[in-house]
Amino acid sequence: MNNQPIGLMDSGVGGLTVYKQVYNLLPNESYVFVGDQANLPYGEKSPKEVLDLTKRITEWLIKNKNIKMLVIACNTATAAALPKIKSMFEIPIIGVIEPGSYMAATQTKNNKIGIIATDGTVKSGKYNELISEFNNEAQIYSLGCPRFVPMIEDGLAHTPQMKKVVDEDLAFFDNTEIDTLVLGCTHYPIIQELIQDRLKKVVLINPGIATANTVNEYLVNHHLLSDQVIGNSEFISTGDTEQFTQTANELLNRKDIKAQHIDI
Ligand code: DGL
Repeated sequence: MNNQPIGLMDSGVGGLTVYKQVYNLLPNESYVFVGDQANLPYGEKSPKEVLDLTKRITEWLIKNKNIKMLVIACNTATAAALPKIKSMFEIPIIGVIEPGSYMAATQTKNNKIGIIATDGTVKSGKYNELISEFNNEAQIYSLGCPRFVPMIEDGLAHTPQMKKVVDEDLAFFDNTEIDTLVLGCTHYPIIQELIQDRLKKVVLINPGIATANTVNEYLVNHHLLSDQVIGNSEFISTGDTEQFTQTANELLNRKDIKAQHIDI
């Protein structure tokens, strides 16, 4: 048993979609979530910059919050940094790309899989690599959607402007016959309904769901589950906490979240 908190990090509010899945599965764990909004978006930074930012947040979470595990709740940071970060720290570190790739590779019926993600994640080729490893017949169509994250961060997720941008970008998949689409950025489940509306028959894969299962399995197998009746969650932003607080309450269907600001 281990009652230390689980750390989660993202560039912004997107990682909350992963927190939501992990929390639903393990509500008696404690959590510390860091959204690095001072440095958003990660999707347009070089892999080296993303690695440095991820390393700084990991160090902070270990030193200040004594986390027992880190979930990199960001595809871009997972793509740019996961193996290196794992080799730098002793705590277990879990990313979102491998669990999401497995889910997509095994759920498709016609082996035609789409991926939407940040440009950084698309350029890394990590989803293509892992999906092909799990399903060597997969045909993969990847699309970078750099307009999505800034709009979601600005609180525009449920507006006609967002719908227009989603409809325009997803036209890319019109002649591909994909039956499965990976939401390869943790911000995208926030606009899942708009995406589903544009691609009606396509099964959407939220890697956060698969990641939550991976976290659970790891904690069970290593006897690291908490024995608290109810855990505590802290939400931290390196940027402006106002929009973060509002999105977090909306997304998690709560009223009591108040994000703290830190400079890392
Ligand atoms: N939410 C992040 C991801 O999953 C990145 C968004 C960004 O900062 O560009 O890739």
